[in-house]
Amino acid sequence: MIAVSWLLQHVADVPSSDEWLSASERETLARLWAPKRIRDWRLGRWTAKRALARMGDAGVSESDRFGWARISIRATESGAPYAVIDEREAAWMISLSHSGEHGLCAVASRPAVVGCDVETVGRRGEEFVVDWFTEAERAWIERCASGERSRLVALVWSAKESALKALGVGLRLDTREVQVELTGARCPTWSSLVVCGPDGPLHGWWRADDDRVVTVVATPEPALPVELLA
Ligand SMILES: CC(C)(COP(=O)(O)OP(=O)(O)OC[C@H]1O[C@@H](n2cnc3c(N)ncnc32)[C@H](O)[C@@H]1OP(=O)(O)O)[C@@H](O)C(=O)NCCC(=O)NCCS
Repeated sequence: MIAVSWLLQHVADVPSSDEWLSASERETLARLWAPKRIRDWRLGRWTAKRALARMGDAGVSESDRFGWARISIRATESGAPYAVIDEREAAWMISLSHSGEHGLCAVASRPAVVGCDVETVGRRGEEFVVDWFTEAERAWIERCASGERSRLVALVWSAKESALKALGVGLRLDTREVQVELTGARCPTWSSLVVCGPDGPLHGWWRADDDRVVTVVATPEPALPVELLA
């Protein structure tokens, strides 16, 4: 099993100043215009840099925000994030997500691949489930208790997004090509899941906190995710 680390940040954790952004990131930021996109983009970069600083291998200390400017979180053509430290691609694969007020980053050592997602539990109608879920997932949601439905829909959706990020394809792949199954292993806060996709299964974990669901998937199979606490 491989090690996967994760960090969740609140939008209030992100400073309004930009000294922690690299020159290329500031150029990218200058091209963004939608306030929500700017907020989410900064939150994602902040969460990723703090996660990498806490991993300890980026050569930057958590308290040296100017040092964080040596790290650039860039995106491939398909939108997948990757970290560059002093112009050299980092040994870590990162995955990012934002939902509501929170940003999430998961980190795994290459060549492992990782995908993560944070999803706010909310009311999603039947049309959403019909459009985006497999038949087996729909049947599963129909059978669940009505009080559980919103959380289950958020969980299935989040696990799909994690898988699509781990595969590096995002929503270019039909979300019905990946099927979520809960595999039952439980630790105090995390439970195991598997997402079966075109290239085989991606194993992972999910947890529910307040009104959020967090999922992390990886290949090879990940051990219980480790939170990057201060
Ligand atoms: C990847 C995708 C499933 C993300 O889902 P989402 O619910 O919108 O957003 P989340 O906050 O959970 O995740 C967004 C992050 O996913 C990551 N991401 C985007 N495309 C990705 C890809 N192909 N592979 C891996 N990760 C990807 C990015 O880090 C992005 O955050 P950032 O742009 O601020 O760096 C989906 O948005 C997607 O497929 N996007 C690519 C297609 C696209 O951009 N279409 C146009 C949108 S206007």
